[in-house]
Amino acid sequence: MNTTDPTGTLVVDHIGLLVTNDPTLGEGPLGLVRDAALVVQDGHVVAIDRAGSTSAAADRCVDAGGRCVLPGFVDSHTHLVFAGERGDEFVARMAGAPYAAGGIRTTVQATRAASDEQLLALTTARRDEAARAGITTLEIKSGYGLDVAHEARCLHVAEAFSEHTTFLGAHVVPAEFEGRVDDYVHHVCTDMLDAAAPHARWIDAFCEVGAFDADQCRAVLEAGAARGLGGRLHANQLGHGPGVQLGVEMGCASVDHCTYLSAADVDALAAGTTVATFLPAADFSTRQPYPDARRVLDAGATVALATNCNPGSSYTTSMSFCIALAVRDLRMTIEEAIRAATTGGAAALRRPDLGVLHPGARADLVVLDAPSYTHLVYRPGVPLIAATYRAGERLGSPAGPDGVAR
Ligand code: NIG
Repeated sequence: MNTTDPTGTLVVDHIGLLVTNDPTLGEGPLGLVRDAALVVQDGHVVAIDRAGSTSAAADRCVDAGGRCVLPGFVDSHTHLVFAGERGDEFVARMAGAPYAAGGIRTTVQATRAASDEQLLALTTARRDEAARAGITTLEIKSGYGLDVAHEARCLHVAEAFSEHTTFLGAHVVPAEFEGRVDDYVHHVCTDMLDAAAPHARWIDAFCEVGAFDADQCRAVLEAGAARGLGGRLHANQLGHGPGVQLGVEMGCASVDHCTYLSAADVDALAAGTTVATFLPAADFSTRQPYPDARRVLDAGATVALATNCNPGSSYTTSMSFCIALAVRDLRMTIEEAIRAATTGGAAALRRPDLGVLHPGARADLVVLDAPSYTHLVYRPGVPLIAATYRAGERLGSPAGPDGVAR
């Protein structure tokens, strides 16, 4: 029996509740199928059968034991490539200090000082942690190098883990450009972009007081677009601002944070094609108010949830935590939050083929140690991810002879 090779047939059998995210296949918006078997061939879903009907013919079989299976999480916003940590900043915030964009420079110093090997090892450990948390697709930003060589190096590390790499030279103005923001933006749009573009799929900027204004972000997005990079924006994180409407106007795939939204922002999101990505773990860790996702959903916009894993505002890889916050504090239903963490993330990466489990889809899936996805919210903080598979291959921990982790 082959336990590691993703080729051949894998059957995940005796699934008590399967979330397909395809309403044509089952009940409700999550397309729920009960007592199912998921048949995977060469890393892709080929069929959804009745439990117990197909296992005999499989090269590999995983017995889900009546548990819930859902699509792997699509985490469309992370800053995984960095060195150092900022626990002291977090402690100060819990004692009342505000979050400020300037903390990014602390991580820039630590990241520049790290060796290539250290940076690769640190990112590998975080990627593995994310896999154990059920994440099967990761977007990874640069943004802690902030000079030509270090931004290119961070993206080079990122591309070892993901095809969804994002150049974030416009994260904050580095110390050597203090007081010369426009010069720095020019540098980002020219020399830095030249070095970054071969390693990036996307370009991003932090549109916020203390970072970059709308004109500067527009220049960065336009320069990236001229090099074939898709746009994304950090917008409206620490206060109301022009970021969300700029992102929609520029056709960005996603505007991320959206903590402070005006009625005009919500209208723009509803009228456009840009996904509103909420990052509730950042609001938690920075003591920001939580955004009202209900308003955005009711207006008809597409919504995603992402972890925003980074050492400053959101040091977590737990999508389960984000889902729980989204339901408890952002006023999403559990089903909306599950979709936001799967198909929503996929939309934010313009990859509608991800986040679903129907025939033809890549077999990216999570086996929950629970009978229903509702337990992700009902049992907050409990590690419920029993196993994660990407393209039919077990991630995160070595498999035993039956393909189940020991
Ligand atoms: O998305 N807001 C900007 N960037 C990150 C935080 C970076 C940091 O504080 O190191 C974010 O929250």
